[in-house]
This record gives sequence, structure tokens and C-alpha cells, in this order.
Amino acid sequence: MKRILFVLFLFCAYSGSQTAVAQSQENRVIVNADQAEYEISEHIYGQFSEHLGRGIYGGIWVGEDSDIPNTEGYRTDVLKALQELEIPNIRWPGGCFADEYDWRDGIGPRSERPKTVNTHWGMVIEDNSFGTHEFLRLTELLGAEPYISANVGSGTPAEMQDWIEYMTFDGDSELANLRRKNGREEPWDIKFFGIGNESWGCGGNMTADYYADLYRRYQTYAKDYSGNELYKIASGWSNDEYDWTETVMREAHWMMDAISLHYYTIPGPSWGNKGPSTGFGEDLYFDGLQASLELDRFIEGHDNRMDKFDPEQRVALAVDEWGVWTDPLPGSTPGFLEQQNSMRDALIASLSLDILNSHADRVRIANIAQTVNVLQAMILTDGEQMIKTPTYHVFHMYKVHQNAMLLPIDVESTEYSHNGESIPSVSTTVSRDDDGVIHITASNTHASESQEVAFDLRGTDVDDVIPGRLLTADSVNSINTFEDPDNVSPVSFEDATLEDGTLTMTLPPRSIVVLGLE
Ligand code: AHR
Repeated sequence: MKRILFVLFLFCAYSGSQTAVAQSQENRVIVNADQAEYEISEHIYGQFSEHLGRGIYGGIWVGEDSDIPNTEGYRTDVLKALQELEIPNIRWPGGCFADEYDWRDGIGPRSERPKTVNTHWGMVIEDNSFGTHEFLRLTELLGAEPYISANVGSGTPAEMQDWIEYMTFDGDSELANLRRKNGREEPWDIKFFGIGNESWGCGGNMTADYYADLYRRYQTYAKDYSGNELYKIASGWSNDEYDWTETVMREAHWMMDAISLHYYTIPGPSWGNKGPSTGFGEDLYFDGLQASLELDRFIEGHDNRMDKFDPEQRVALAVDEWGVWTDPLPGSTPGFLEQQNSMRDALIASLSLDILNSHADRVRIANIAQTVNVLQAMILTDGEQMIKTPTYHVFHMYKVHQNAMLLPIDVESTEYSHNGESIPSVSTTVSRDDDGVIHITASNTHASESQEVAFDLRGTDVDDVIPGRLLTADSVNSINTFEDPDNVSPVSFEDATLEDGTLTMTLPPRSIVVLGLE
């Protein structure tokens, strides 16, 4: 399946008030409910938590002796908020950090673990108090699958193999017994296993040919112990670097389950000027949304190269780092990648998730960067305080699509134009869950105009609208703060009617809606 056809109708400029409704029926979505082919893997809704800044330490892990209320050392407030997201998988320990991580530093009594230097993220001391046991216990508490990213850049195949044996072997080996001595009798089930991260950059600065050889070598020693079955993910490139994907696929596609793709949305003009995460105007709002839509083109490009060697789509594309990346917050520690999270970023999340869902045939795992306090975070903390970001709410609204069947759609959308550029005003995902309920998530990207959208529901006889929720805000740059934590948060949504198989809803400016049909 290729990207859903966007038919852009010419938009007649409307000269009315700021929140005027665009002309009726200009936004139309045909839903072919009887033509579902692909399931939206729950793993598209994965998270990424790296040893970076306050992502783990302070954000998730505070230790049992902390004054901050905790459960076995994990912040209780953060744990509860994350549990509500029903996270399917979490990627750890990096990122760039993974390719300098020695797993042996993070096991055994915490007081005896070595202090090391996190050379990638601020040269800060890593006390290794959060290691393998702590991460895997976190995944248990969240009901998520672990996604371990192994060290190929500076580690050896033997170290990697030992780590797998330590975690997954249930026999009488020295490493399995060491795990038991460290408090874990049963082996863990480890599914997702990344072999290197950005091996073209921070993960070793390799060429595609060299990495392809290393991938083949390392994956040989990524063994399945005691019935565990690893799902092996090769390191891919970012954006439109398709040749890397082609080389690695050509040399090793039959030895992998997935190859990764990273894509960060930069609202500003360049990496050196990414733009602030607060206080921006409509220019950086529009540019951010427009940049996020590039993900669709990049997935198509990598998918096409993968098709050359894998037309049956056995190998998945793992978009295991994505999200908005802005300039760091003024006054924050360099290298900690701290940024606020606005209504714009909520829309970047919904547009990106719509793109990922629409490629459910090839994209079967994705991980937003990152869970807490880093980049496009779900949660921000400050000492004892915690807030849920607008992006958190999008993930909460979109969880209805996890493991649901993607319903094919044709979208006719008006355009949101700004500074001579245009993007579609409407983006949507429609899916049907195991109980037969159809869920629609729909976004209005327009900064100042409402959109009426008609969903023409074909091949289904739904007759009831289940009231939904709406996320919007006073302004494109609205944020949640510790003083005003619910400034951007969902409210109930009932502005939808179902008549003769057509659902009509009105989306306020800069908004996201979820609702059900049965
Ligand atoms: O998410 C931050 C960093 O971005 C990751 O460590 C790296 O893989 C990517 O470049």
C-alpha cells in the first residue's frame, strides 16, 4: 500500500473572522471500511528513553531513598502517567549512548557500580544506578516490550552475546547464575534487539558497506537462548539517505527483521537554528508542521529501496527515532536536549502518527524521542513536580489505533496556506478495533480557521457516534507549565453528527479529535 492519496481542492480564501468555518463539504474523507488489509501494529506507539540529561535520572528513576514519592525507585507519578498510555515497547539505553554502553557497568549492587562518563551527552558522570535490571523491571511495570539497543560502535560481538545470555538464558551458565545472584531468577523475554544505532554517525562513523559486514557478523552472535526469539533491527539512516538502506538490505536483508529510519522535525531553517520551543509565531508553527509531513516521503523512499530485495515486506521499517527537535530551553544544561512542548508539537505528533499508521504495511515499529524531559517528551518534571505535555495527550487519544485494522481512506482536503506555501488542513487515521468499533482521529492544522469534515463511510453500517475528546488551545504555541498543567488538555467533543452513512464534524482551528462509531 502506498501513501493515501491527498487530493487538494483549491481553497477559496475566506475573509471572515479568525475562527470562521471553511466552506461546507470541502473536506471529505471516503472511508472504505470493507477493504481493510493491514493491522496498525501497536509497536508504532513505542517510546525511546536514553541515558541523556534528565530523561532517565530524575525523570523516571530517582532511587528508593529519594524524597520524591517512588515505587521501587521509579517516580510514582511518572509511572502512573506512563501506564495510562499503554506503551507497547521502550527503546533503551540509546541512541548514541548505546554505542558506548558497557552493560556490565549496570549490574550488581548499585553502590558498587562504576562511575563512568557520558561522553555523548554533556560529559556528565553516569553512576550506572539504572542498568539492565532497572530497565527491564520498568518494562514489566509498564507492560511494555523491551527494545534493547546493543553496542556495535565500541563494543565487541562477545560482549553483546554475553549480555543476551545474561538476560535470556535459563540454564546453569556462569552468566545466567550471575543474573540470579543479582536478584533475577527467571530469564527475561527480550524481543526487539537493535544492532547498532546511527552507525553512520555517533555509532561509529561507518560506511554502508562496512556496517553491512559488521551487521552480518554481530547478528550471528545475537543468539536465541531458552526459547527467546530476538527480533533483529539493523541500523538505518535518517531522512532521504536511501543508498544506505539499499546497501544494507542487499547485503543482509535475510538476516534481519527490520531496518531503522530516524527522522527529526526541525521547525527552523537548519540544525544550527532549529527555532525555540516556546513563544514562536505562525511562521515556525507552519514550518514545523510542513517539515513533519516530510516523513511520508522518506518512508516511501526507503520502502521503495526495500522493495527491491523484499517485495513481500517481510522486513519492517522501524522508525525508531522521530519527533520535533528545537533549540534547547534557555538556561538548560547544554547537551541535555530540554525543550517545551506546545500545541504545535501535539499536531506534529498527530500528523506523524497518521503517516506512520498509513504505512502500516511496512512500518511495524516506531519510537518517539523521548519519553521524559528530552526532546518531544510525554512528560516534563521539575523536582517533585510533573506535567503531561500536549504530545502526551495525543498519544493517549491515539491509543485506540493500537492493533486495530487500518481502514483505507481517500482524503480531499482544503489547504492551509501561509507565506505562499500550503499543507493539507485535514489529516486523519481511521481504524476498526477487535470489537468492531471504528475510531477516527482527525487533525485541523489551520492556525485560525475551523474545518468542517464529512466522512463518507462505505462498507459499514455504523449508526451511533461514541462521544470523543478534543485537544486544542488558545494559540499555536500554548504549553502546559508547572503553574498551569492543564492549559492544553483534552475536553469532551460532541460536535459530530451521523446521517445516512456520513459523519460530519467541525474541527476548531489547531485541533485534534478522537471519536468512535458503532
Ligand atoms: O535522540 C537523541 C539522539 O538523536 C540519539 O541519541 C541519536 O540516535 C540521534 O542522533
